[in-house]
Amino acid sequence: PSSLRIAVIAGDGIGPEVIEQAIRAAEAAVQRYSPARLEWNRLPWSTAYYKKHGHMLPPDGWDLLREHDAILFGAVGDPSVPDRITVHELLLPMRRRFDQYVNLRPAYLFAGVPCPLVGKKPGEIDLLVFRENTEGEYAPVGGRLYPETPAEVAVQTALFTRRGCERIMRAAFEAARRRPRKKVTSITKSNALIWGMGLWDAVFEDVRRDYPDVQSHSLLVDAAAMDLVRKPETFDVIVASNLFGDILTDLSAAVTGSIGLASSANINPTREYPSMFEPVHGSAPDIAGRGIANPLAAILSAGLMLDHLGLSAAAEAIRQAVAAVLAEGKVRTPDLGGSHTTTDMGNAVVAALQG
Ligand code: NAD
Ligand code: IPM
Ligand code: MN
Repeated sequence: PSSLRIAVIAGDGIGPEVIEQAIRAAEAAVQRYSPARLEWNRLPWSTAYYKKHGHMLPPDGWDLLREHDAILFGAVGDPSVPDRITVHELLLPMRRRFDQYVNLRPAYLFAGVPCPLVGKKPGEIDLLVFRENTEGEYAPVGGRLYPETPAEVAVQTALFTRRGCERIMRAAFEAARRRPRKKVTSITKSNALIWGMGLWDAVFEDVRRDYPDVQSHSLLVDAAAMDLVRKPETFDVIVASNLFGDILTDLSAAVTGSIGLASSANINPTREYPSMFEPVHGSAPDIAGRGIANPLAAILSAGLMLDHLGLSAAAEAIRQAVAAVLAEGKVRTPDLGGSHTTTDMGNAVVAALQG
């Protein structure tokens, strides 16, 4: 069978703890459900690596990554080094360099998961966020003048392009078309941010005309935040800018039980570059090193990766195994109200996969 090369950047904090379990689950799933060999190329790029070498990745790091079929990412970020180094030398440039313009973040209320909202049934919250991942509020445009003086000025500019808006919206509509409810909600703040998000709205009006079979509408982000709490079941596919997609996916994770369950795919749809798969959460310094992080977000992200690699049977098996473990409710990490460990949870998923 063919061999697929996967670059693994476990990173900082709970990153290595959850990625270890994601690799175990992926191996178990592939072994039984999809005929392929996975080659895991572990790269030590992290805060510790930075402290030793003075950079987050070696000078040929990007070329090296390109030789892989996919990237599995844990998280970066450590209280001892500013995020403008850890996050800004590795994670954010990766999304831009590899043109991973689709950041797909599903949120699903699994059976057996305690929901903070009253009366929600399993499966009732089932949404996909399509977060624009290469421009918008995260565009590396801006600067600081006269640092540390009373005259100090900072400029941070959001950048929206017609092409950038159009391609993420089309990805969202294409996905909505394949779902039963066929509904897209575009989330902006164009009442205040009239230029950038004015362009976003104009492009949305153009794109939605090509999808008459999909129900579509716009919602302002403040109202959307409220509705994600008040009536999350009304959302199907959400398309949002980089910053709003970031914020709303911590919210959609919370209403579906825990950020420890929230997976994501950073996809380069043209396949010119490798796509990257990571949990929505960060390095969680507050719980790192204690072996209590929930690995299911990372495991589900590995499932999204297998799907992207064409191993759909193994991908589906991972989702089913996670759903079964949660439904059974015997193994719960602290974020789900239990006292089991990261390894306990990984073991449960592997056992479910092995049948
Ligand atoms: P975080 O997502 O790391 O943690 C937020 C809260 O959620 C914490 O209370 C944490 O304990 C909890 N949590 C997160 N993942 C969990 C899991 N799997 N199981 C159980 N609980 C979990 O966000 P933060 O604290 O704002 O950020 C910490 C660092 O991570 C920062 O440096 C930040 O920049 C970075 N970060 C990195 C990424 C990434 O690399 N993709 C993503 C988000 C944040
Ligand atoms: C995420 C993270 C990152 C983001 C941070 C670390 C810059 O919060 O992946 O959700 O905002 O994209
Ligand atoms: Mn985030």
